[in-house]
This record gives sequence, C-alpha cells and structure tokens, in this order.
Amino acid sequence: SQTYQHILTSRPDPSVTLITLNRPKALNALSSPLFAELNTALLAADEDPEVGAIVLTGSEKAFAAGADIKEMKDKEYADVYKGNFLADWTRITTLRKPVIAAVSGYALGGGCELALMCDIILASPTAKFGQPEINLGVIPGGGGSQRLTHAIGKSRAMELVLTGRNFSAQEAERWGVVSRVVGEGEGVVVKEAVEMARLIAGKGRVAVMAGKEAVNAAYELQLAEGLHFERRLFHGLFATKDQKEGMAAFAEKRKPAFTHS
Ligand code: CAA
Repeated sequence: SQTYQHILTSRPDPSVTLITLNRPKALNALSSPLFAELNTALLAADEDPEVGAIVLTGSEKAFAAGADIKEMKDKEYADVYKGNFLADWTRITTLRKPVIAAVSGYALGGGCELALMCDIILASPTAKFGQPEINLGVIPGGGGSQRLTHAIGKSRAMELVLTGRNFSAQEAERWGVVSRVVGEGEGVVVKEAVEMARLIAGKGRVAVMAGKEAVNAAYELQLAEGLHFERRLFHGLFATKDQKEGMAAFAEKRKPAFTHS
C-alpha cells in the first residue's frame, strides 16, 4: 500500500478505511502537500470495493488547526486567484461513500471546515471548534461561512465568524453541528467512529449511497424537488437485490445478507 508523509491510513476493519492526519508538530495544519495526500487517500478508499465507509481523524490535541498559515502568509491575490487556492479541498464532498469525522482537540478554521464537509461528525468532549480567520485579517475560505450557517443558523454563524471565538463540543452538540459527543478518554471518539463506519458498511451499499445522496440533496434543492428526488431514488432501490434480500429477511425473521448489488 501507498506510503504518505502527512497522513496515515489503516484498515481497522476490512470494510473501513481510517485516515489519520499526521503533522503533529503543526497541529495538523492543512498544508497543500497534506491535502494532496488526503485527496489521494480519500479517492482510493472511495474506489476500493472492500470499503464501505471512511473515518477521518487527527490527534488527541488537534483534528486540524486550520489551513497552514505559514504557507499562506506571503501569498498574493494573483497567486491564490490563479491557483484557485482551496478549490481542491472540496474533493471530499464528491465521495460516494460516507465519511465520518472523529474530532478531538482543535478543529479550527480549515479544520472546522473539513469536519463540516464530512457526512457525520462525532466529537470527543475535548473538541474545540471555531472559525478564527477574522483574527488573521481574513474570513473562512473552505466553506465555513456557508456550511456553518446551514448547520446552526445566521445569528450563531455570524457571531462565530465575526468574533472568531471557539465553540465547545457541548455547544456543537446542542446546535446540531455534531451528531453526538462521545465519552471521555483517549481514542474513544475514533473507536466509536470506526464502529459506526463498520455498522454502515454492513448495510446494503447501494442503499447507503442513495441515502447519502438524498440527505445531501436537502442542502441543494427546494422541498418539493427534494421529496421528488428522494422518492425516485427510493423507487430505484426496488431494482436491487439488497431490497429483495432485506425485505425477505424481515419477513422470514432472519438477518439480511446484503451483497451490495
Ligand atoms: N498553520 C501553521 N502552523 C500552525 C497552525 C496553522 N494553522 N496552527 C498551529 N501551528 C503550529 C504553530 O505555529 C506551532 O509551530 P512552532 O512549534 O513551529 O511554533 C505548532 O503548530 C504548535 O502550535 P502552538 O504552539 O500555537 O500550540 P498552542 O497549544 O499554544 O495553541 C492553537 C494551539 C490555539 C490551535 C494555536 O496553534 C492557533 O491559534 N493556531 C492557529 C489557528 C487558526 O488561526 N486557524 C485558522 C487558520 S486560517 C484558515 O484555516 C483559512 C481557511 O478558512 C481555509
């Protein structure tokens, strides 16, 4: 398997790829080389037929402390504009398989935005989220002002983006940014995220992909169009073996054996 310099990849279960951001000395600051590796690993996992779900994590101290400020600080407008700086960050949102972020410690700036681009976020009680870009004389550039506003509403997003203050795991849970805060302890959030990924990977994967597409459509479509899209996806699943198996298994009071087809 491929070796990386700024990330680690492993298979805690044959059906799960775990990607760990690994620039400990820079609190996993998201440099361009790191992001290039991350995108390669994400695409490899998305294309791997054995893999049903992906977990993305950092360290106990930092999920990621943002874009790499030292790499950015001398860039000029023409550089960032011509190079479309940060455009390649959204690759993760094009994945078909679910991505679960397991967040401990700092998830600031681009780190918060990266977590928000994942499908599900689990947080350790130590997680500290925030969009501190205002303190650097800029604003979020990786979707923070948009995805956070969708997630928590205008007033809270405005406060966070304009003051740059961090918000806690508890606030993130209360506001619905994260699906839940796990118990305390080293490695707990990764363990639970991997367990959730394994659970999802065991479902019919055609249905999982359709479910992800349908939920994501809720962010792009008006309600009537979204409901139509959902119903058509639902209809389409009646063409799968997994629908026949899932419903037969229920009627026969046994566990389904999905073949992801
Ligand atoms: N970029 C580059 N290096 C970073 C970094 C970042 N975003 N965050 C931390 N580091 C580096 C520090 O410079 C330091 O390196 P040195 O040892 O070489 O000095 C090392 O990581 C450890 O950091 P600290 O000594 O600062 O650790 P701390 O525990 O005292 O503080 C912290 C932790 C509060 C997270 C602090 O590091 C911090 O404020 N980091 C920057 C957070 C930030 O502003 N993020 C937004 C970046 S802009 C962005 O992301 C734009 C966007 O929308 C895409």
